[in-house]
Amino acid sequence: KDNLSAILVIFGGTGDLTNRKLMPALYNLVLDKLLPEHFAVVSIGRQDKTEEEYKKDIYESTKKHSRNKIDDTIWDELQRKIHYYRFDFTNAEGFIGLKDYLDMLDGQTGAGGNRVFYLAVAPVYFETIVHGLQISDMASKPDAWSRLVIEKPFGKDLKTARNLNSKILEVFSERDIYRIDHYLGKEMIQNIMVLRFCNSIFESIWNNKFIDNIQISLTEELGVGARGDYYDHAGAMRDMVQNHIIQILSLVALEPPINLKTDSIRTEKQKILEAIEDITPEFLRDNVVFGQYGPGVIDGSPVVGYREELNVPEDSGTETFVALKLHINNFRWAGIPFYIRTGKRLGQSSSNIVVQFKDMPKILYFKDKEIQDPNLLVLRIQPNVGVYFQFNTKDFSSHHEIVPTKMDTSYFSPTQGNTPEAYERLIHDILRGDSTLFSRWDEVEAAWMFADHLIQYREQNESTFPNYAAGSMGPEEAFELMAKDGRKWWQV
Ligand code: BG6
Repeated sequence: KDNLSAILVIFGGTGDLTNRKLMPALYNLVLDKLLPEHFAVVSIGRQDKTEEEYKKDIYESTKKHSRNKIDDTIWDELQRKIHYYRFDFTNAEGFIGLKDYLDMLDGQTGAGGNRVFYLAVAPVYFETIVHGLQISDMASKPDAWSRLVIEKPFGKDLKTARNLNSKILEVFSERDIYRIDHYLGKEMIQNIMVLRFCNSIFESIWNNKFIDNIQISLTEELGVGARGDYYDHAGAMRDMVQNHIIQILSLVALEPPINLKTDSIRTEKQKILEAIEDITPEFLRDNVVFGQYGPGVIDGSPVVGYREELNVPEDSGTETFVALKLHINNFRWAGIPFYIRTGKRLGQSSSNIVVQFKDMPKILYFKDKEIQDPNLLVLRIQPNVGVYFQFNTKDFSSHHEIVPTKMDTSYFSPTQGNTPEAYERLIHDILRGDSTLFSRWDEVEAAWMFADHLIQYREQNESTFPNYAAGSMGPEEAFELMAKDGRKWWQV
């Protein structure tokens, strides 16, 4: 057997994540011949359906969400590996039956006892399932590996995250815990380190001597849709900042690791989180803006405000938008502001990192110019994937104007085009045992330490929500946050 052989056990086999992401990812992994020969998927669900009915349902959703068109031969190859196992995982005794079933499948598939337990369920069930795996002794087998994959949010604050982590550590070792942050699977996020450490022109100016500020924006046109129940307990801080944004920030700012080993990279990321400036009451007052969308118009159609969404209380104080400024207090970044913003129901869906370089002295060409176009390096995460660089040249038509010009490698790709979607990469890495693109516990812990302060501040302060219209780019204060520093958000 090769050591990728395994049974992938999905808790939440009939859920949204499985339908929209995991099954399409598995399909594309088969297409790319990246799944091992000895492999099976066991989808666990509570719904009363036959295996045939289950496969019919996931066929439809895979067809809808896969980045490649479904070829029936490839689908057939995948579907033969999939099994539906009906089981209510809140019933602890049922885990023994599951264990026997998986052992039986080992015989059929030659998976060799290796397991991936994927928790694609609501976070309230994380502990229950881990406990079930513990009492049925499923997590440890001689001569085989067992890995736990856990979706976000990992806890709802520092305390609950620590608690959850210690429960999991009773059953799995840190090495076998894969805390998913699907942003880390995205092509451009992985490219951050490549751009920085494979190009002397970038790395040599990647510091406070040349950079004026860095902006990280993850903006979405989408509202909360059917996820009101989850989202109202999360808000943008837990949903996007504590994980995706903090991860991006640490990759943009980290020092070169001594090698590309998982722990070397994670250690450098962790140092960045430790270097984030202290969060004092003054910091919170001056540098953080929360928002919540009211009714508005998206793509020409009227949409309701957050408080009118399904399963959202009509007086909800949950933030659907955050903008903030922070500093990383180390030698490389002292004095350089990092601006962050994320929100739902904004006028544009776009994820990008903008590195703005310092202005030229107002001497030669910029002598009489109030404002000059700065050099910008934009890392586009989506929907356009790639890099663009803005610099100044002479305007060829007017012969004397200085105009900004763009060099652009990005291309439009609504589902990240031909680049493997995040979940494909992540599932493949889990099977290979490579946890570089997953969060280590101390990173999660540090991210909560940061996020907790902001969440508490929002909860303790009277909000004037809603404070931005759906379809706008967020509350006025978010623009003021920039304007008072003489800067602006780059809409790229
Ligand atoms: C998820 C959040 O983690 O990321 C969602 O829970 C958000 O609220 C999503 O919409 C954004 O991811 P992507 O890949 O669509 O940018």
